[in-house]
Amino acid sequence: MTTGFGERYGPWALVAGASDGLGAAFGRAIAARGLSVVLVARSADKLEALAEEIRSEHGVEARPVVQDLGSPDLVDALEEKTAGLEVGLVVYNAGLSIIGPFLDQPLENHLETLQVNCRGPLALTHHYGRPMARRGRGGIVLMSSLAGFQGSALVASYSASKAFDLVLGESLWEELREQGVDVLSCCAGATRTPNYIASEPVHGRLKAPEMEPEEVVEEALASLGSRACVVAGSGNRLLGFILHRLMPRSLAVRIMGASMRRMYPSSRS
Ligand SMILES: NC(=O)c1ccc[n+]([C@@H]2O[C@H](COP(=O)([O-])OP(=O)(O)OC[C@H]3O[C@@H](n4cnc5c(N)ncnc54)[C@H](OP(=O)(O)O)[C@@H]3O)[C@@H](O)[C@H]2O)c1
Repeated sequence: MTTGFGERYGPWALVAGASDGLGAAFGRAIAARGLSVVLVARSADKLEALAEEIRSEHGVEARPVVQDLGSPDLVDALEEKTAGLEVGLVVYNAGLSIIGPFLDQPLENHLETLQVNCRGPLALTHHYGRPMARRGRGGIVLMSSLAGFQGSALVASYSASKAFDLVLGESLWEELREQGVDVLSCCAGATRTPNYIASEPVHGRLKAPEMEPEEVVEEALASLGSRACVVAGSGNRLLGFILHRLMPRSLAVRIMGASMRRMYPSSRS
C-alpha cells in the first residue's frame, strides 16, 4: 500500500541503529506506513529477526545491514550496501551514551561518542540528502535528547553531541525545506529502551517522565514535515519549558547535574 507518507518518503527508508529500542520501533512504524526498510546496526541476529518480523507483518522489503556507525568508512560501506535503492527517508537513531565523570573516561571514549553521535548523522544526512534534494522530496530524522538543550554533568560529551544533532537538524529543516526535504530533530526524554533500562537509573521522589519507544516514534513521524524539532511527550515538554524558558541557564545546568548524580550514584567521582 502506498500512502501519502510513502509517496513523500518512499520507497525505502534507512534506520541507523535499528536492532532494538527506538530504532526497532522506527523500523516497525515506518514499515507499517508502507515503506521498505534498511535496518543498520552491529547485531546481525537481532537485525535478521526484526527484518523477518517486518516482512511478514507488513509485506514490505526489509534489508538487514551489519555496520558499525562509528567506522571511518561508514559512507562508502553504506553506499555499497544500499546501491540501487532509492532511500527517501533516513532516521539516524543510534547514540553512544557513556555515563561517568568526564576526566575518568579515556579520551577514546569521548571521541567515539563524536564518531557515532555527530560524524555519523552528519555524513548520512549529507550522503542521502543530496539525491533527496535532486528528487525534490525526502525526510531526515535526527535523534537528539532533552540532554541536548543544556550541559549536564556525568554525560558531558553525550550532552554536547546531542546539542550538535539538535542544531544540525534545525538548521537543515530551514535550509532544505525549499528543496522538498523535511528534516526533524527529535528530542526524547527518558525512554524505556533496553539501553536505558540497562543503565539502571535510580529514581527518587521526583521521577522524570518515562515514555515507551513506540510513543516517541509516533510523535516524531507525525511531526516530520511540519516542524523543526519535537520534544516527545507532554511531561518532557513541561520539563523543558520550566528548565529552558523559566530558569537561568546556569540553574538548569545545575539541576540537570544534580539529577544525573541522583540517578547514577555509582558513576560519581
Ligand atoms: N533511551 C532514552 O532514554 C533516550 C533518551 C533521550 C534520547 N535518546 C536517544 O535515542 C536514541 C536511541 O536510544 P536507545 O536508548 O534506543 O539506545 P542506543 O544505544 O542509542 O541505540 C540502540 C541502537 O543503536 C545501535 N547502535 C548503537 N551503537 C551503534 C554503532 N556504533 N553502530 C551501529 N549501530 C549502533 C544498537 O544496535 P547494536 O548494538 O546492535 O549495534 C541499537 O540498535 C539515541 O540517539 C539516544 O541518544 C534516548
